[in-house]
Amino acid sequence: MSTVPVNEPLLNGNEKRYLAECIDTGWISSEGPFVSRFEAQMAARAGRAFGIAVCNGSFALDAAVAALRIGPGDEVIMPAFTIISCAAAVVRAGAVPVLVDSDPLTWCMDVGQIEAKITARTRAIMVVHIYGLPVDMAAVLALAQAHGLQIIEDAAEAHGLNYQDQPCGSFGNLSTFSFYPNKHVTTGEGGMLLTDDPGLAERCRALRNLFFQPERRFVHDELGWNLRMSNLQAAVGVAQLERLDEAVLRKRRMGQRYNEAFRGLPGVQLPCQRRSYAENIYWVYGLVLDAAVPVDAADFMRQLGEQGIGTRPFFWPLHQQPVFKGMGLFRDERYPVAERLARRGCYLPSGLALTDAQMDRVVTAVRSILE
Ligand SMILES: Cc1ncc(COP(=O)(O)O)c(C=O)c1O
Repeated sequence: MSTVPVNEPLLNGNEKRYLAECIDTGWISSEGPFVSRFEAQMAARAGRAFGIAVCNGSFALDAAVAALRIGPGDEVIMPAFTIISCAAAVVRAGAVPVLVDSDPLTWCMDVGQIEAKITARTRAIMVVHIYGLPVDMAAVLALAQAHGLQIIEDAAEAHGLNYQDQPCGSFGNLSTFSFYPNKHVTTGEGGMLLTDDPGLAERCRALRNLFFQPERRFVHDELGWNLRMSNLQAAVGVAQLERLDEAVLRKRRMGQRYNEAFRGLPGVQLPCQRRSYAENIYWVYGLVLDAAVPVDAADFMRQLGEQGIGTRPFFWPLHQQPVFKGMGLFRDERYPVAERLARRGCYLPSGLALTDAQMDRVVTAVRSILE
């Protein structure tokens, strides 16, 4: 029995043609023309002035934190329920992540909890759009303005997602994306920073490129990294971006199909379809098991695996990460929604290449466990 993969990308546009162009012209490094083309097109799509392509979405966050000169003594507010990359970027800079819990319906950060966490040391709010719905940005923008805080917008999962008709990726002083193959737009590995601020854009470019200096190349005033994206990766990205609208439509159709197939299924919370400010793009199709269901997510995933269905667990909350506990961070802190999502949530196959027949197999397997 073949396994239904949790994610398989679709690479059936101009990817091969543009890659062949790289090979034929010899442009494979980050100096090649697809990189600036991809940057300009990503920026235009979000209505931003500048795009800076990097090697992945995690390092895009490190670069954002460093570009804003966030460091020792500073605090950055973020959700407890997110990928390690968000907190890692802040901790590596010597600053402190300060956590808020999630909204039980949308699984994004509960913006009502942010204000109580603001102190004299708070420098930024790192918003993270989770699994296909955006953070309720109106409240965040108001708080950032009132308290003079920067916004780092982690839009890694939010290609083609809008908040009140404005694209995600347009809200941060710096906004970041990932192009890992499970994203609506992939480059294999890759990331991007977007901003309207020419100074920040310049700083991100320098951080990406070891702080080489224009005049005295090998003399460095600051430490950066080599975060460059190759022309090969950007070529794939340009081809992918041409089909983003189609990808969003396709994912929404998948989301609706799962929603209909699981309607009335007892014991499980399905993704929230829409809020007043947004419609879900189903980056992944998540499920959260009710307390009454006798299996937890790990057991549920194991049973699905036995039926040839690939799954992934939800994020494990930041305050319960052994690495941060070892650093003495988040001692005795509790975020009950994030803790429940981590233990009761997982996501089903939801890649762009998923077929209707594969979805039917997923539905049958899920129903066989929960009904
Ligand atoms: C919210 C979020 N931020 C950051 C990242 C990191 O991106 P990358 O895998 O490209 O490093 C991911 C990865 O999926 C993510 O989901």
